[in-house]
Amino acid sequence: MPSISICLFPAAGYGTRFLPVTKAMPKEMLPVVNKPLIQYGVEEAARAGISDMAFVTGRGKRALEDHFDISYELERQVAGSERESLLEDIRRLVRDCRFSYTRQIEARGLGHAILTGETLIGDQAFAVLLADDFCVTEDAGVLAQLAALYDEHRCSIVAIEEVPPAETSSYGIIDGEEIGPGLYRVFDMVEKPEPGEAPGNLAVIGRYILTPDIFDILRDTAPGRNNEIQITDALGTQAQEGKVLAWRFRGRRFDCGNVAGFMAANNFIWTNL
Ligand code: G1P
Repeated sequence: MPSISICLFPAAGYGTRFLPVTKAMPKEMLPVVNKPLIQYGVEEAARAGISDMAFVTGRGKRALEDHFDISYELERQVAGSERESLLEDIRRLVRDCRFSYTRQIEARGLGHAILTGETLIGDQAFAVLLADDFCVTEDAGVLAQLAALYDEHRCSIVAIEEVPPAETSSYGIIDGEEIGPGLYRVFDMVEKPEPGEAPGNLAVIGRYILTPDIFDILRDTAPGRNNEIQITDALGTQAQEGKVLAWRFRGRRFDCGNVAGFMAANNFIWTNL
């Protein structure tokens, strides 16, 4: 049995950068070619051996629940036709995984969204995947890389990549020391620092393994950047108290939280199908 068996998908954000398409449609349903971002995320979690998929949603996100369900009318419509194969991947996920949902009532930040998910997670280590960080790897995926490290180290682990120093204000930035090829011990973390204030240019991307003590830390974490409760601040506390590792993941990330990154991901998948 894999030691990480549940993944939390914070999916309550509004996706205002994509308006008007996100006016009545969840941003997690935006497609890279013909598959929604959230499905790529769930597939990545499944490839890491995870079978429980837990979503923190909000108002206007019902399409997510419908996507990870069976549509009997549609099944009947495509049965026996060549289109049926297009449903294969999603059918497999619906058959093999368990899905649970809770709602974040107010938008109070990623840390608050993760704390809202406590009711679905309980007292176990868990993965977190932000679907708008779209990652392509040659192996089973970034979460599988983190899960393997968790099996060895049994502590919180974040995926990182180097970003241009001018872009630190878009990310959580770690302060740490490299203890093995690509592996860092984290001393502290800062949410979206201006370039002059950043402890470096190693940026956290939307893949985390968190130990469950993070919930108590989050409860005691005051609002930070943008007056929101930040997972970066809670991880900074955890790093100072115990052990947090960062892993320079193998693979390539597209920032599908903005239109340019989203178009690049579409071009990449379309030309590499
Ligand atoms: C969030 C986190 C940030 C992280 C980023 C990765 O920011 O707060 O620390 O670096 O995801 O994509 P957001 O992009 O949601 O503003």
